[in-house]
Amino acid sequence: MKYKLLGRSGLKVSELCLGTMGFGTEAGWGADKETSFAIMDTFANAGGNFIDTANIYKLGTSEKIIGEYISKQDRDYFVLATKYSLKDNLTNPNASGNNRKNMMRSVEESLKRLKTDFIDLLYLHIWDDLTPIDEVLRGIDDLIREGKVNYAAISDTPAWVVAKGNTLAELMGWSQFVALQVEYSLLSRTPERELIPMAKHFGMTVTPWAPLGGGVLTGKYQRGEHGRIKPESVRLNERSTNITKEVIAIADELGISPGNVALKWTTEQGFSSIPVVGATKVSQLQDNLKTIDVKLTKEHLQKLDEVSAIPLGFPGDFFKEEGVKTNTFGGFYDRVEKRF
Ligand SMILES: NC(=O)c1ccc[n+]([C@@H]2O[C@H](COP(=O)([O-])OP(=O)(O)OC[C@H]3O[C@@H](n4cnc5c(N)ncnc54)[C@H](OP(=O)(O)O)[C@@H]3O)[C@@H](O)[C@H]2O)c1
Repeated sequence: MKYKLLGRSGLKVSELCLGTMGFGTEAGWGADKETSFAIMDTFANAGGNFIDTANIYKLGTSEKIIGEYISKQDRDYFVLATKYSLKDNLTNPNASGNNRKNMMRSVEESLKRLKTDFIDLLYLHIWDDLTPIDEVLRGIDDLIREGKVNYAAISDTPAWVVAKGNTLAELMGWSQFVALQVEYSLLSRTPERELIPMAKHFGMTVTPWAPLGGGVLTGKYQRGEHGRIKPESVRLNERSTNITKEVIAIADELGISPGNVALKWTTEQGFSSIPVVGATKVSQLQDNLKTIDVKLTKEHLQKLDEVSAIPLGFPGDFFKEEGVKTNTFGGFYDRVEKRF
């Protein structure tokens, strides 16, 4: 296992992050406590230290399982990320949202469930399109000053909001967001339009969620196996079938699993990326851990790029037009060093 620096911080995190949305058996799927403990043992024994959860996962069960596990381990070894914003109950309008009151309440509840007195990385989970971003950053900065949180991060939020927040934080001397969690995989490439260029500009690490498309990219549904993705899911369609076929072809050529190919692709896209990968069985995690030794050639990456390509739309595709490049660079486009 290698360790990467998380964004512009000095924090060292394993090159794979363990997603724990499936810790707990609520909603008819997931790993029970014993299996979740075995998954965390396997991850830690392989050198993994970066664990991702949220207040809402399995209605708090994910955090409780991690808390029980970590309280019997060396807490300091783990870089524990959790999230606030989503509802803990339906009786209080401020038990959800990005507002400061919910942040403080949610963090206190998470600390209890996680049986710890600090969270390493606190994400805003999903943007509510209501709360001023300075309220969020100031709130997390206060938690950092109190010693309850070490670093700030953000997930599922428009690029312009994150950019405004990080610029304000820099001016105000507050802690900036160091990581950006977005759905990113061969099935879901639209973050390439605005979010990923923004993250690169601010030196943030991108932490792709659902890097296996919830399991679709492992090829298991094409093999007729069952999992939590139902046949009517938007993730199972002609496009995802074609992409998965290419992933399987490359995996067969290399003698590795399709999931390894799909996971590796998320780390080879020219920006700092640490996939947050879920597993509900130890064998799945063991397979996913093999990704760290995988090497994809330029030809493999090109094939995967082509089969999963998306239009960037305006202005990304406009900037690529020959006439626009000639006008913008006065004929020197190919001879000028590019920043990103
Ligand atoms: N920020 C957000 O809004 C957000 C949203 C969603 C998730 N997340 C985070 O991202 C993490 C990962 O997301 P995800 O679980 O949706 O997607 P994922 O990592 O793409 O898929 C994980 C699922 O794929 C299957 N799987 C994993 N490894 C496998 C293998 N080697 N062979 C066969 N099947 C395998 C398992 O499905 P089965 O259980 O069906 O076998 C597993 O639950 C979550 O745990 C959570 O921490 C964040």
